[in-house]
Amino acid sequence: MYKINDNYQKLPGSYLFSTIAKKVSAFTEANPDKNIIRLGIGDVTQPIAPAVIEAMHKAVDEMGHAETFHGYAPDLGYEFLRNAIVENDYKSRGCDISADEIFVSDGAKSDSANIQEIFAIDNKIAVCDPVYPVYVDSNVMAGRTGVYDTNTETWSNVIYMPCTMENNFVPEFPKETPDLIYLCLPNNPTGTTITKAQLQEWVDYANKVGAIILYDAAYEAYISESNVAHSIYECEGARTCAIELKSYSKNAGFTGVRLGYTVVPKDLKCGDASLNAMWARRHGTKFNGAPYIVQRAGEATYSPEGKAQLKEQVAYYMKNAATIKTGLQDAGFTVFGGVNAPYIWLKTPDKMTSWEFFDYLLENANIVGTPGSGFGPHGEGYFRLTAFGTYENTVAAIERIKKL
Ligand SMILES: Cc1ncc(COP(=O)(O)O)c(C=O)c1O
Repeated sequence: MYKINDNYQKLPGSYLFSTIAKKVSAFTEANPDKNIIRLGIGDVTQPIAPAVIEAMHKAVDEMGHAETFHGYAPDLGYEFLRNAIVENDYKSRGCDISADEIFVSDGAKSDSANIQEIFAIDNKIAVCDPVYPVYVDSNVMAGRTGVYDTNTETWSNVIYMPCTMENNFVPEFPKETPDLIYLCLPNNPTGTTITKAQLQEWVDYANKVGAIILYDAAYEAYISESNVAHSIYECEGARTCAIELKSYSKNAGFTGVRLGYTVVPKDLKCGDASLNAMWARRHGTKFNGAPYIVQRAGEATYSPEGKAQLKEQVAYYMKNAATIKTGLQDAGFTVFGGVNAPYIWLKTPDKMTSWEFFDYLLENANIVGTPGSGFGPHGEGYFRLTAFGTYENTVAAIERIKKL
């Protein structure tokens, strides 16, 4: 008789966004006339930039001719894309990263969930609390997190680093030494970030204790302040302690196109074992490459036209962020984030729990947001709104909230 991976049975409840979807669909069924504005899930709304669409069309045509047809992509990704990444995302920022340290993938969700498998099961992970749920859940599935305590909503074998308004959402070094440290900066869900100097302290810490930082930079394009690092490799010593995950979902609207990459420097060594070689092996065995058409689309994000168009798109969303932030402040809310990230993190009013505020906002303003507690126990009492809606909907949502 077969046996299942029991670790899956340990996962508590259903995934945050499916709970939200169920609540919203129950509300819509009961109130079919209400116009709901969705500022919950972090999905983009603006169409793909023209320069990218043009590149994709061209690539589609190439696939229709024997001379220009492309089958399986090279394991690490096409050189044209990896070279563009090195030039634009690293060299231009003074980071020493080479093309054979870049692994092109179908996005940062899969990479951030899969990267843990090259590490031993008895490694201890440290995560920010609140946190992007994928980091913890993928470690639960692997059997690394110990026992779940339903009262505290924490795992016995996970180190939590609370990020709240009290510490300005800056994680502090944990008392217990971790092996793998997940950092997502700028942060989902809080929309906040840390300075380059603070990130340097984390790099120094990781090098000192022999830990690896799994650095999720999915929101890098939204950084507006000059003292914030765009890549962890801007910090000295990061090549010996950091893996960086990138996504085209939020800077180029590729949530439905699917493209990302992971940087595994060759300096990452555990004894004789090279993490770069291990990830290459993993990639080669378990992944057959992002589509040629999509990698050409990725390359087009680095063309002069592509860059200009994406800059506009990011500015569009950041205008939404500013609209939400100032609107909520005017309405008397305590608000964080929205300066270097497309997320606004607000303190729920009147000591409401995150889910109470979710229901209140859905019922009274017909707005869908995300309860902070869904991202971890220290997210309780907070609420996330995204700037990824249309400008019109964002303005309408704020008007509704002001009338509450
Ligand atoms: C922190 C973080 N990492 C990764 C992802 C997923 O990125 P991708 O669409 O490339 O899988 C998201 C998406 O919301 C995210 O918020």
